[in-house]
Amino acid sequence: MNIGLIGSGGREHAICLKLYKSKLPKKIFCFPGNAGTSKIAKNIEINILDFKNLLRLLKQNNIDFVIIGPEEPLVKGLVDYLKKNKITVFGPNKFASKLEGSKAFMKKVCKENKIPTAAFKICRNKLQVLNFIKKNKLPIVVKADGLAAGKGVSICATKKEVINSTKDIFNGKFKSSKKAVLEEFLDGQEASYFVVADKNTFKFFGTAQDHKRVGENDKGPNTGGMGAYSPAPIVDNKIEKKIINRIVKPTFLYFKRRKKPYTGFLYIGLMIKNGEPFLIEFNIRMGDPECQVILPRLKEDLLKILINCSKNNLKNTKITWSKERSMTVVLCAKGYPGNYRKLQEIKNINNLKLKKNEFIFHAGTKLINNKIFSNGGRVLNFSSMGSNFLEIRNRINKLIKKLNWKSGFYRKDIGWKVIGNANHKW
Ligand code: AMP
Ligand code: GLY
Repeated sequence: MNIGLIGSGGREHAICLKLYKSKLPKKIFCFPGNAGTSKIAKNIEINILDFKNLLRLLKQNNIDFVIIGPEEPLVKGLVDYLKKNKITVFGPNKFASKLEGSKAFMKKVCKENKIPTAAFKICRNKLQVLNFIKKNKLPIVVKADGLAAGKGVSICATKKEVINSTKDIFNGKFKSSKKAVLEEFLDGQEASYFVVADKNTFKFFGTAQDHKRVGENDKGPNTGGMGAYSPAPIVDNKIEKKIINRIVKPTFLYFKRRKKPYTGFLYIGLMIKNGEPFLIEFNIRMGDPECQVILPRLKEDLLKILINCSKNNLKNTKITWSKERSMTVVLCAKGYPGNYRKLQEIKNINNLKLKKNEFIFHAGTKLINNKIFSNGGRVLNFSSMGSNFLEIRNRINKLIKKLNWKSGFYRKDIGWKVIGNANHKW
């Protein structure tokens, strides 16, 4: 079987490694992949939003099955396009992908189905904004409606900030939409819950906690994610039941009623407040870097799971998880999430000796004349598993120190909430 994997981040390298380890006979092609995937698959350089060219290359390489990693091609309808052209594909359709592609749509689905989420108003003009400010307490969360690569959310402490942030959105700062979603600020602990779904059913696919801020102690601007760990101890059995009954089931039922069932991974971003889960966001894919901590814990063959999903046979598919804890720390290019330099050589990387259950997942890297160079803001993910989060983090931090990449930086405090908390015996 020839498999096409779309994307080029740490998430896709982690997926690629699991596919590579599958017992099923296969050949993997990454569109476009990175230096990490090039060692275990064939990379094919392409703009993944150029669907026509992608289809041509998929056909040329006799690809039987396509797995889509990132949100943008999903939101733009790649699944529908490939299906129309008779290619089997894993991922949600264009309509369902609006759950991430439009926050206004996601909020409407919540309202219609009584899914717990922050109180909100979809605004198109200043008058609506002023009205929301009058009725709600500060801080107020302002969100761009459409995809914004993690840069569309501002937590505004003053009325002026709310007005300025919404003005930027109305003026077209984000190309994807000119609508703003204003939200009540929820105080609590964030966690992410994942499921995988076919037309008939869904199954648990792990929990994780991410670190979105660039700096230690959760300071500084938001990023795509600086590190993560799995499982998320805050999601106990009681909270999990509430997540499934109040959020996951009503969402899947909504799409079934619409005759457009949700299939693929679903990332449920939560704020947990006094034991009650509130939906912050849906992502229509695995998280990055959450995928890099969840997949190492998966005991079954990922390829079998995804193929079974595409045949709507998830119900009869076993999915079990290692009890070990897992963590990843992201090594970024200095300057990220602002300006940073690309094409800085990462010299030592092939000298690092990795033990079993230690992984370096590449993200923004590129292989040039057999040397590895940086090619993005988030460059490498150092992942490891073990019985104790502190021990895992110490091992990861030591490995990054050994790499001694002068152009990079990383957070040394990933997992601080679980490591420093005496209530969790983790
Ligand atoms: P989102 O893109 O919707 O996930 O938002 C990005 C980040 O902003 C989240 O991970 C939260 O840390 C924060 N955030 C979003 N919505 C809220 C909210 N209603 N209350 C508090 N924090 C929020
Ligand atoms: N790490 C957050 C995301 O994948 O959206």
